Amino acid sequence: MSLNEVLQSIPPSASLNLMAKVRDLKEKGEDIIGLAGGEPDFDTPDKIRFRGMQSIAEGNTHYAVGIGVLPLRERIAQKLREENGIECEASQIVVTPGGKYAIYLAVRALINSGEKVMILNPAWVSYAPIVQAAGGIPVHVTLKYEENYIITEELLENAYVEGTKLLILNYPNNPTGKILSESEADAIEAFVKRHSLYIISDEVYERIVYDGKKTISVGSRKEIADRVITVNGFSKSVAMTGWRLGYLCAPKDTMKPVSILHSHTVTGVCTFIQDAAIVALDCTDEIKAMRKIYEERRNAFIGALNRIPGVTAEYPEGAFYAWVKMEMDGMDSFQMAEYLLEKAGVVGVPGASYGSGGENCLRFSFANSMDELMEAVKRIDAAMR
Ligand SMILES: Cc1ncc(COP(=O)(O)O)c(C=O)c1O
Repeated sequence: MSLNEVLQSIPPSASLNLMAKVRDLKEKGEDIIGLAGGEPDFDTPDKIRFRGMQSIAEGNTHYAVGIGVLPLRERIAQKLREENGIECEASQIVVTPGGKYAIYLAVRALINSGEKVMILNPAWVSYAPIVQAAGGIPVHVTLKYEENYIITEELLENAYVEGTKLLILNYPNNPTGKILSESEADAIEAFVKRHSLYIISDEVYERIVYDGKKTISVGSRKEIADRVITVNGFSKSVAMTGWRLGYLCAPKDTMKPVSILHSHTVTGVCTFIQDAAIVALDCTDEIKAMRKIYEERRNAFIGALNRIPGVTAEYPEGAFYAWVKMEMDGMDSFQMAEYLLEKAGVVGVPGASYGSGGENCLRFSFANSMDELMEAVKRIDAAMR
């Protein structure tokens, strides 16, 4: 009997694979600097951990049936109204086991089998597989490195095909580190209105933005608000990757399929984790402190990378990745990543894992100690020479 053909055709996540490879090599005693993962190197702030433990001690270990406990959904809705300008109520918030699952839930709820979904290329490695797993067809919109990956209405229009239902956005962007500008948001708004598309706006790196800049949530745009599902989470912003906690905010008329699928697949997110999440939403100082450290590392890492011959890296506006263009001497980005692993013991993610728009680049995470980053630069420099 044949198994699910679509799922068998989807490759595993490149960054998760590399994280596992780094772990295995380190266990074998190899001297490896792993800069492939998308994980903060900070521990979850104490207040959050204590609230989680306290909640377990209070006996909150039963099913939290439904789309999320009300105090958390109310607090998330308040955050989205006050910080993101998204008009919403607690009834539109769904708490999920991670932002990744929120994206799957949203895609699954919005599209029918065979419908098309536009994904900007380069893009985070899981969007296309999620769309395929939901029965959809990814349509890749290639943004250009030379044009700083700027989105224009013309570009979107040229990539549009009949039968498209949804556009997935991700700002601050993984892997490029770009945030959305007002003019890009204008272009997206006009395009989406013209074709009556839905948007999933993945904002999981929202709290990690540098130089005092601020991201735009397209869900705050009144004329398209009823077509936008905003996704966010706690993994990156408050270093809670292992807790598996995210959420989405959906227009009222899309809530039915979203909550039906949630109830039949998740039942409800872990009770005491939801209690801890309420505290996490108030960790403004802790988040600021982490961001300051990321920013110092960004400045030092990008500055040092640019001093290596054949290497160019822009300063990312957000997230914690260096998106690095490298002269690869005839190699593709997979071969280049392999070369750096062998010659330098440094692991980065091949740019082509993020789509054809990522060829000639590698992604290195700077959610690592300054010492490791500086040692990595030294080794890459030697390997490039
Ligand atoms: C762009 C983007 N979206 C979503 C996620 C999912 O994060 P999580 O499921 O840990 O909340 C990630 C994680 O790497 C990501 O990089």
